Amino acid sequence: MIVGIDLGTSTSEIAYLNADGKPEVIPNLDGELITPSVVHLDENNEPVVGMAAVNKLLEEPQNTFMEVKRLMGQEKLLSARGEKYTPVKIASFILRYLADSAEVYLNEKVDRAVITVPAYFTDRQRRDTIKAGELAGLTVERIINEPTAAALDYGLENLKDIKNILVYDLGGGTLDVTVLELFEGVVDVKSSCGNNALGGKDFDELLLQSFLKKFQIKERMDLSNDIKVISALKQAAEQCKKDLSGSEQHEVALPFLTRRKSKPVGFKETVLRKDFEKLIADKITSTETQIRTALSDAHMTPSDLDTVLLVGGSTRIPFVSQFLSNTLNFEPKKFVDPDLAVVRGAAIQAGIIEGTLKDGDAIILSDVCPYSLSTEVLREGVFPRVVCDILIKRNTTIPATVSKIYVTSHDYQTAVDVGAYQGESTELAENVFLDRFRLSGIPSDLAGKEQIKIIFSYDLNGILKVEAESVSNSGVKGSITINTANAGKKQEVEIIEADLNNWNSAPNASKYKNVIRRAEKLIEDEDGDNGDDLVIENLKGALEELKMGLIHNLGDIELEDLKDNVLDVISELD
Ligand SMILES: Nc1ncnc2c1ncn2[C@@H]1O[C@H](COP(=O)(O)OP(=O)(O)OP(=O)(O)O)[C@@H](O)[C@H]1O
Ligand SMILES: [Mg+2]
Repeated sequence: MIVGIDLGTSTSEIAYLNADGKPEVIPNLDGELITPSVVHLDENNEPVVGMAAVNKLLEEPQNTFMEVKRLMGQEKLLSARGEKYTPVKIASFILRYLADSAEVYLNEKVDRAVITVPAYFTDRQRRDTIKAGELAGLTVERIINEPTAAALDYGLENLKDIKNILVYDLGGGTLDVTVLELFEGVVDVKSSCGNNALGGKDFDELLLQSFLKKFQIKERMDLSNDIKVISALKQAAEQCKKDLSGSEQHEVALPFLTRRKSKPVGFKETVLRKDFEKLIADKITSTETQIRTALSDAHMTPSDLDTVLLVGGSTRIPFVSQFLSNTLNFEPKKFVDPDLAVVRGAAIQAGIIEGTLKDGDAIILSDVCPYSLSTEVLREGVFPRVVCDILIKRNTTIPATVSKIYVTSHDYQTAVDVGAYQGESTELAENVFLDRFRLSGIPSDLAGKEQIKIIFSYDLNGILKVEAESVSNSGVKGSITINTANAGKKQEVEIIEADLNNWNSAPNASKYKNVIRRAEKLIEDEDGDNGDDLVIENLKGALEELKMGLIHNLGDIELEDLKDNVLDVISELD
């Protein structure tokens, strides 16, 4: 059996597809459906997970970890009782605890899982999630995006609907906005946009800071370095926030917060809902950017939407749904359980992989890569400089493979460094550096004469593989699956991209003008109409290769070949 796991910043859940083909959430060893994502290391350095760990937060905050999901992809070490732990290791304890709970409940071995991640998780964060699964003794069958999982849950219940849906997922640590189309059991993600550093924890932090400030004014004591006090105030802040979702005011009362000259000093404060709303307003309204981007990438306006799904505990804040109805001119509906929709969707995906969904409940999922993936190239000009050149554009349907041809930048150059970046900018510094490898053994020739083909493949888990090969000597190949260990490093680069627009001035340009114009016209017309996405991507690739061939003045036979490639793709469109 494959289980589905929602590994959340604040809470985690596990579910499976039962004999009726319906997702069912499995209770943990305490009998609860929702497990706090908190890990405590006891005196024997054994992990304690969930509510029992939450109870240790006040007593032993130094040996208790929360929100480790926020540290995924970072090279940070956590220490407890002299032992060091990676965030991945801590996350693996949560996964193992959930799997153990499922083993008890299902009375069978649980070693295969689908795990959800925020759509906007980077390549490194996805790999870390897979690693955490492996450390927990699980084979990670698939990583799927959380808002997509929520949509699967909705989709299974509404198989016959045809609907444009926006999923607004605001949890403990991340925001994801995803636009998708539901069409006779096909869940087709159109676009995804998000912020990996925004969630309920930020609201707790804002409240906590305001408490500290008030305490300092009143008692003239600065408690911001007292880890036990911070831990107590943080819990009080979260409780206050949750309470304000249901009432207009909340009283925080901590009579024994600290001591002064061995006398207890307490903290008492009434927080009004409207004061809390003022504190978080900027953070919430900032999400309009992600909503606009997701909609425009999906070629939709708010009026095209049929349903808005609210997912994640933080969407319980009344200000969030008010903001959404103002922004979208639309009353968002809670058609799914905001806490459990994601894990239920993970179980459905597990069922799809296993083939256990009932006939008639066939559901097909097509997801996208939510950000652009690029390689670094030297852009020629008066001031040559290294920039990012996109191979996989954001919101390309996955899996996707795109290749491009580049040329050498120096005379007699026999090696190139092939890098990979994630992000929308042409500026290296503004994107996330993923990894780089060196391709050597390129035949020695003048600058611009040797071609290097770079291939980016993005798989269903959202993981990237980069390959490069010398075109004239196909024995020379190299590839990497992006290695997180190298991330962050920068090196010199030496490949260039010729400016494709210069094909016009190539000696043989006139002979190919017609076919190039025709292809360009088709690309222009088809862009945005999603039916032939893949063919259009192929056409773009073939067209670029032809232009590149012209620029590099290839022989007639080769040019004719490249032209035929373009015509072949065009015929697929007719
Ligand atoms: N009634 C409520 N009002 C306001 N916030 C709430 C309420 N209930 C839960 N939350 C907040 O929701 C967050 C947890 O939501 P959820 O469990 O969906 O997140 P998660 O899955 O752990 O996080 P993520 O998906 O970002 O990794 C916490 O910050 C919690 O304080
Ligand atoms: Mg979540």
